[in-house]
Amino acid sequence: MQRENKLDRRFEFLAAVIRSAGDVVRTACAESAGKAFAMKGPQDFLTETDLASEEHIRTAIAAAFPDDSFFGEEGGGSVDGDVWIVDPIDGTANFARRINHFCISIGFVEKGVPQLAAIFNPMSDELYLARRNAGATLNGKPLKVAATTDAAAASVELGWSTRVPNSRYMAAMTGLLDQGFNVRRCGSGALALAHVADGRSDGYVELHMNSWDCVPGLLLVAEAGGAVCPFMELGDLRSGGPVLAAAPGVSARISAAVGIPLEAERPVAEVASAAG
Ligand code: IPD
Ligand code: CA
Repeated sequence: MQRENKLDRRFEFLAAVIRSAGDVVRTACAESAGKAFAMKGPQDFLTETDLASEEHIRTAIAAAFPDDSFFGEEGGGSVDGDVWIVDPIDGTANFARRINHFCISIGFVEKGVPQLAAIFNPMSDELYLARRNAGATLNGKPLKVAATTDAAAASVELGWSTRVPNSRYMAAMTGLLDQGFNVRRCGSGALALAHVADGRSDGYVELHMNSWDCVPGLLLVAEAGGAVCPFMELGDLRSGGPVLAAAPGVSARISAAVGIPLEAERPVAEVASAAG
């Protein structure tokens, strides 16, 4: 009961804080100064709005839940105990180029288990929320992944970064194309995972992602009935790991094509008791 109350309070806060960070990002988007960028590394963009959004979220969390840890893309932090995992803008390269395809991504992880997730697209005003064993919603409406079973009608997004050798990226792309999948890349892994959860996309694959880019999105997809990889076993919060999330009708073929395993399905009784 006490624990439920703890998660209730954080879930309510999460929806409010991600919307207010969205106001920060949307306002900056209208001002060209907010999009001036620096490079953190090859193809790794940083704008002052990434920093402003993360600071906004960090300050709000510290005021509301001073004992919780914070781990953000720009400022780092601790992953111990109860931790908020924060990407203040996912798709910064799009944001800096005035392409309106980016989002804010926040997760709450309790002792290594992701419990709460939020992804917000401030330009389309779409707020995705998920709570472990309680489902996922988009602007309050329940979410369900696509019913796709035919690879020849399926679209999979394949994320890319310089953290993985191009040869491995090309092998994954070839594996998917050989199965008949259409392969796309739109530049925001977190938003891509949200789009798997709402059925606009059939799958998302990336050979390495940081936890702030994918932990909230993976919970969203799982809670919307999708198949996901066991990210916390294959990788970890601090160093990241491989990512696969997909509609169940095509997930096994995607997994075989790219060599990333899927989480074993949990017995129905276990899911029911965790939810109850
Ligand atoms: C990146 C985007 C991109 C993904 C990369 C991420 P950022 O995050 O999500 O789509 O392929 O792995 O690093 O830099 O825009 O926050
Ligand atoms: Ca980011």
